[in-house]
Amino acid sequence: MSIFRLAHLSDLHLPPPKGALGWRDLLSKRALSRIAWRRKSREHQPQVLAALVADLKAYGPDHVAVTGDLTNFAAPAEFAAARRWLEALGPAADVTVSPGNHDALVGVPRPERFTPWTPWLGDAGQASFPQVRVRGPVALFNLCSAVPTAPHLATGRLGDEQLERLDALLADPAWRDLFRVVLIHHPPVEGAVSRRKALEDQDGLRAVLARRGANLVLHGHAHAAQVAAVAGPDGTMIPVLGVPSASAAGRGRHPAARWHAIEIAHGPDGGVEVRMAARGLDPRDGHAVELGRWVLAQAGRAPAHRP
Ligand SMILES: [Fe+2]
Ligand SMILES: [Fe+2]
Repeated sequence: MSIFRLAHLSDLHLPPPKGALGWRDLLSKRALSRIAWRRKSREHQPQVLAALVADLKAYGPDHVAVTGDLTNFAAPAEFAAARRWLEALGPAADVTVSPGNHDALVGVPRPERFTPWTPWLGDAGQASFPQVRVRGPVALFNLCSAVPTAPHLATGRLGDEQLERLDALLADPAWRDLFRVVLIHHPPVEGAVSRRKALEDQDGLRAVLARRGANLVLHGHAHAAQVAAVAGPDGTMIPVLGVPSASAAGRGRHPAARWHAIEIAHGPDGGVEVRMAARGLDPRDGHAVELGRWVLAQAGRAPAHRP
């Protein structure tokens, strides 16, 4: 049996460096987000994130998926700080970032805005979406649902072009025998978050997944542990997993920080089993502990191994 170990964490909401916002930002959506940050900064604790990352590194994953909201205001200084955080996490080839709505708070909805994070977006060498990364028996399809929105909205959108490209990629026989994981910030599940936070074209994404199939979808944004499923082709179901914020102290309405260790195990009989362990911090002493363990049944043929 071979096991591919995929770590999933999300919604870091790294503390903004001093002076990250200028006077111009007081006229933009960043001003409102700055007011919200005064409340959120008590919830998102760097030491919580550091303890979680230490636990994740001890696990030694083959790959790490970070599903967005690394920043709070999408300010250039925050992008630079997030890049330093990513560099400390591990080699860019082993970490994939799907941006979140906080990473695209204001400005134009163009993927080029994520250029500072290019090495973590995929192997294309440019800030574009979707991108495919093949790692061992796994193909990661990295999407970007992060777009600027009006104040008080945190919606996401993929857009027709990205959905069409995803449709073509998922239909490509090159990835058919691999275990296909889709990464996105916003959950593609109806009712997973309120309408003001929802993925606007989630119907379009679900239609692509129903037509072309995938083995797993990972998301963030809800700041909650969520387990759901969406329809795949021929009556199959695709598991959809959401992970809470990796920096949450758990004092507010959202659960405390957590990361998910996902093991994709291929048996000698050709079967595939997906196991997921949720790991967080013990509130009594701050030590990392396993919070629960689940098995997600998988149907279909086993992915072929690639070097
Ligand atoms: Fe978030
Ligand atoms: Fe978000």
